[in-house]
Amino acid sequence: MSLQPAPVTFEHLRDGLGIGAAEPRLSWSLPDGHAAQDAYELELDRAGVLHRTGRIPGADQVLVGWPGQPLTSRERVSVRVRVWTGGGTEPSPWSEAGTVEAGLLDADDWTAVPVGAAWEQDPDTDRRPARVRKDFTLASPVAHARLYVTAHGLYEAEINGRRVGDDALSPGWTVYRERLRYYTYDVTAHLVQGPNTIGAWLGDGWYRGRIGFDGGYRDLYGSDQSLIAQLEVRHTDGTTTVIATDPTWHAAESPIVFAGLYEGETFDARLQDPSWSTPHRAEESQTWTPVATATRDPRTLIAPAGAPVRATQEIHPVSVSTTSDGRHLLDFGQNLVGRLRITVDGPAGTTVTLRHAEILQDGELATRPLREAVSIDTYTLDDTGRQTWEPRFTLHGFRYAEITGWPGELTDGAVVARVHHTDMRRTGWFECSDPMINRLHDNVVWSMRGNFVDIPTDCPQRDERLGWTGDIQVFAPTASFLYDCAGMLDSWLTDVAVEQLPDGTVPWYVPVIPGGPQWTPIKPGAAWGDVSTLTPWVLYQRFGDLELLRRHFPMGRAWVDLMERLAGDSRLWDTGHQLGDWLDPITPPDDPAGARTDRYLVATAYFAWSARHVEWSARELGDTEAAERYARLADEVAEAFRARYVLPDGRMTSDTPTAYSVALAFGLLADEQGRQLAGDRLAELVLEDDARIATGFVGTPLICDALTGTGHVDVAYRLLTQTECPSWLYPITQGATTIWERWDSLRPDGTLNPGGMTSFNHYALGAVADWMHRVVAGLEPASPGYRTIGFRPRPGGGITWAKARHETPYGTAAISWEQTAAGLAVHVTVPSGCQGLVELPGHAPLAVGPGEHRLGTGDLDRTAA
Ligand code: BGC
Repeated sequence: MSLQPAPVTFEHLRDGLGIGAAEPRLSWSLPDGHAAQDAYELELDRAGVLHRTGRIPGADQVLVGWPGQPLTSRERVSVRVRVWTGGGTEPSPWSEAGTVEAGLLDADDWTAVPVGAAWEQDPDTDRRPARVRKDFTLASPVAHARLYVTAHGLYEAEINGRRVGDDALSPGWTVYRERLRYYTYDVTAHLVQGPNTIGAWLGDGWYRGRIGFDGGYRDLYGSDQSLIAQLEVRHTDGTTTVIATDPTWHAAESPIVFAGLYEGETFDARLQDPSWSTPHRAEESQTWTPVATATRDPRTLIAPAGAPVRATQEIHPVSVSTTSDGRHLLDFGQNLVGRLRITVDGPAGTTVTLRHAEILQDGELATRPLREAVSIDTYTLDDTGRQTWEPRFTLHGFRYAEITGWPGELTDGAVVARVHHTDMRRTGWFECSDPMINRLHDNVVWSMRGNFVDIPTDCPQRDERLGWTGDIQVFAPTASFLYDCAGMLDSWLTDVAVEQLPDGTVPWYVPVIPGGPQWTPIKPGAAWGDVSTLTPWVLYQRFGDLELLRRHFPMGRAWVDLMERLAGDSRLWDTGHQLGDWLDPITPPDDPAGARTDRYLVATAYFAWSARHVEWSARELGDTEAAERYARLADEVAEAFRARYVLPDGRMTSDTPTAYSVALAFGLLADEQGRQLAGDRLAELVLEDDARIATGFVGTPLICDALTGTGHVDVAYRLLTQTECPSWLYPITQGATTIWERWDSLRPDGTLNPGGMTSFNHYALGAVADWMHRVVAGLEPASPGYRTIGFRPRPGGGITWAKARHETPYGTAAISWEQTAAGLAVHVTVPSGCQGLVELPGHAPLAVGPGEHRLGTGDLDRTAA
């Protein structure tokens, strides 16, 4: 068996081009079946000069420190690794090289200034986007070229008539004031010696487009719409040409007449000049006028930490019907996030209108849930015959589309839905013998895809799509199993820290959009603000990135310090606006916070849990003093919680599933403090209600673990397999293909929930998938980065087999189990360098090493218990 390691990767990136870290950390994995490595050696190829580290003893292979001089801007380095394992003296063959290339690491590297339209626009009525361009001549042949680019707004760049890159909605959404991401593209093949042209489409996007609910905001970050681009060409003769956005560029109105993320896009092909980004001396034409420049501090330009948004899949309609008045109604069979690409032929001036919705009512698109997100694209044909178009600067959440104005017959393949989201690597899979549970799991995956659009959002369809902190706080464990989202969430958490107030307040959503006079998203709220402590911890557990934990530690600590001040000596956080167990199924449509569980009980429980996480994080980071301080605080808060919310007979003041779930899942009840009583009462409550769901955003992600941990896994399965409303499977009985925001977004009588918030694509309640991975299938990290993997399936619910697979930082971990006549038959896979701990119901844990293991309950020793 060859021991050649997989190619080295850098930080959490799939592609090392344009990296922002001067000392990127390196990871590699070993081929299957190897014990932990004894030692490794790295080789860096820096412009043909080889540096070798020599043999470095140790088992590290994930996020290993950069072994040489820091990268300089634009420097390209190839890295190879070889390893020693199993006490052997011979190293493995060298891995194939992984290549990293630094972006522009110093503010001084930037000469580009923002350029955009110079003509007067009425900011309320005239939002027609611009295109910008520049002709230039390259005097000698091109060896290689890079485009560093970003925008105030959104961009799509072209060089000599050819698109640069395949990302969408770039530069994504960060707190632009402080952090504006730029992307690096290899554009060597776009350029020629002689005349060339670079240009870019611009859109409003999050920078100056309308965002936010209740009318939202425009021009949140500025009123200009500008490109910031720096094309750097290295010639074969060693000289360099830099073409940067500056006052010599030209701008013209775009054939995009309007584009808004919520509104949709209006495109008039008759206004299109197909040669606009090819050399044609724009300065001599009437339409192209000199640009206006805006300002940007280059110190705020940052390189990406994760993948961009891309189209990752194309879906054809499963049915097309035509109404009596000639409209076409398309069903894509899947609620998705993306946009339509049309291929159409007809008379110039014909306008095709595309409307989108997640759901039908009475055979028509139900658009009320979109609120003020209109989601209409229109395309007006030119006279070039068959033409293909997809909007550039908008995105929709939909399963159905209605098309009006289509000329002629709508043939197969004429309309395709293109699914868009952050292009993360898929890393997690789950399947079991129950098809409804599998559909539930698929729906979780789809809701993650639809809501991981550069930032983790609440929903993809209405006038919101915001980085709600509570939603991702509960969903992060599931997300980090399904996809490698470390880079994306790390970047977003950095924005959370940027938006955090000096007093520790974590806003409800990030990036912040100011609320109205009545309402501000910048105030402390439990479960939402705790994203600052819990989510870095989850990412550390799942991806093994201690530096990430370190970077975000001050944010979490400040959050806990704030709660400590708010609670005062009582240690009870029982003041202020709390969302509580948001969307508990008894909450009326117009009062989503009106849950049955005391919201201050929830707030104090989270206070204790976050304090505990700060303690754990401090311990991992070697800060013993802080660890001790927050351990004490967590103990005191837990004690105050019990004194205030647990009655002498063991019942809680809120005798509700969420109250017991937080108390149990957050470790607030030790054995002698009524833990078992609470678990029994929780089970009783669930069964009294015939295992229908009675929890909202807070209780739902915890209840199955709370039951499992107190000997009621059977009751957890009752909850999971219930199909009556409200339950996880009820939406499946209604044909759901994504996770709904409300337990009854579509009510059993077939009508839409009348609440102002009724999304069909919200991942929060899908957080149960994490329990499915860890408990139903039985695969969980037992130490950071899955270096030790727990295989602890707890079969139940009539499920006869289940399996899960996860691409850990070390390689593939997998489990599958099956109920057989002889008992439970289990097959586990442990990646090289890792340890497995197999624990089957009623049996003592068994440690296993890398490789494949088949175990049966029949062959194992029973535990004493
Ligand atoms: C969002 C949520 C969010 C909630 C809190 C809603 O409008 O869609 O999922 O967490 O508001 O107020």
